[in-house]
Amino acid sequence: MTASRAAHALDAADPLQPLAEEFHHPQDRGGARLTYLCGHSLGLQPRSVAAYVERELEDWRRLGVEGHWSAARPWADYHEQLTAPLAALVGALPREVVAMNSLTVNLHLMMVSFFRPRAERDCILIESSAFPSDRYAVVSQLRYHGLEPSRHLLEVAPREGEDHLRTEDLVASIERLGPRLALVLLPGVQYLTGQRLDLASLAQCARRNGAAVGFDLAHAIGNTPLELHDWQADFAVWCSYKYLNGGPGAIGGCFVHERHARDAALPRFAGWWGHDRATRFSMSPDFVAMPGASGWQLSNPPILATAPLLASLRLFERAGLDRLRSKSIALTGFLQSEIESGLGDLVELVTPRAAEARGCQLSIRLRRSPEAARRCFERLTAAGVVGDWREPDVLRLAPAPLYNSFRDVANAAAALTQAARA
Ligand SMILES: Cc1ncc(COP(=O)(O)O)c(C=O)c1O
Repeated sequence: MTASRAAHALDAADPLQPLAEEFHHPQDRGGARLTYLCGHSLGLQPRSVAAYVERELEDWRRLGVEGHWSAARPWADYHEQLTAPLAALVGALPREVVAMNSLTVNLHLMMVSFFRPRAERDCILIESSAFPSDRYAVVSQLRYHGLEPSRHLLEVAPREGEDHLRTEDLVASIERLGPRLALVLLPGVQYLTGQRLDLASLAQCARRNGAAVGFDLAHAIGNTPLELHDWQADFAVWCSYKYLNGGPGAIGGCFVHERHARDAALPRFAGWWGHDRATRFSMSPDFVAMPGASGWQLSNPPILATAPLLASLRLFERAGLDRLRSKSIALTGFLQSEIESGLGDLVELVTPRAAEARGCQLSIRLRRSPEAARRCFERLTAAGVVGDWREPDVLRLAPAPLYNSFRDVANAAAALTQAARA
C-alpha cells in the first residue's frame, strides 16, 4: 500500500480526526493549507478561541470594572477554570496547580522558594543542553545568592558521540554529587532532541540525595503523560503556547507539590493575588499565602491571554489524554517509518526510537554538509511543510494528535524525501 493510501485508512479509523477541523490551519499565499508540524514551537489556534476572547471583550465593553464579579466568567476567579484541566494534564491535585505568568518568570519564583543554598549544599544540577532561558535563570539565581556559576552550576552531558542523556548517567551524577546539590532542574522533554526523560526515577533519586527537584515541562505538557504528584517533584513550570495551543505569549503555569502547600517557612516573593482569597480585598498590609500553588501568584491574571487557553483545554477534555497519547505514538511512529523508508541512510534520527522515550517530536539530522541540510529545510518549507530548524543541523517536526492527521504526516515525509534528494 502507498503511504498516502495507508494514511487515508489510518485517518478513517481515527476517532480524534474530527477534532482537526476545530483548528485554524495556516495557509500559503494561494490559500492552500500548509502541513503544520510545528506544535512544539507554537500550537494552532482553536476555532473557538475567537468566541472565548470576544466574550471577555464584550463583557469588558458592557460591564467595565464590574466584569470582575459579573462577567459571564467572572475575571476575579477566571484562572480557576483552568485548574482542573491543567491538573489532569500534569497528574496533580487541583490545589497543586496554578495558571500564572510565563515560564521563565515562574521558574524564578520557584527557585526563590526551592533553591535554598546552605553550607556545602549550594549547587544546581542541569543538563548541558538546557534551554538557554533556563540556563540564564539558573545562572542569575546563583549570582543573586553570591555563588559563582563556574563552581556551583553542574551540568550533565550525553556521552561522547551520543545525543541522549542516559538515565543511569543522570542518576550516577546525582548520586555522586548528592551532598552538594541544592536543586536538580531537568526538562520533561528535551527541546532539541525530543527525548522524554524518566522523571519518576530522576525525582526519586534527587530526593533520596537531599536535593529539591524541579521540572521544565514546556515540551512535555499536553504531549506526554505526567504524574507530578506521585513522582513527588517539588515544583514544575510550563508555558502553554506549544502543545497546549494557548496562543503566543499565553499564560504559563506552575506545580507545587502539596507537601509545601502550607509551609509558611518557605521564602517566596509575594503579591496580592497569592494572598488569602477571603481577605484579599481587605487590603491588609500583611501577606497571608493561599494554601497550595495559588499562594505563589503575584498579579491578577491577564484575562485576554488566558481565554484562548481555556478554549483549548476544553478540546483536551473532549479528546482525553489516553486517546491523544495513543494517536501521538502512532503518528510519530508513522512519520519515522516514512522518513526512514524515503531517505534511509541520508537521515539520522536524533530523537530516541522508543515511543516511551519521546513525545510527538522527531528531530532529524541530514547526513549532508550543513549548507545542503539547510537548503533541504528551505525546500521543505517552500513545499508547504512547517517545521523548524535549529542550528547547526537539526530539523524538528512534531505531529500534534489534536489537529494533525496521518495524511499530514505522509505529505511531510514525501516532501522531505523530495527536498533531501533534490
Ligand atoms: C524548554 C523551554 N524552556 C523555557 C522556555 C522559555 O519560555 P518563556 O519565554 O515562556 O519564559 C522555552 C520557550 O520556548 C522552552 O522551550
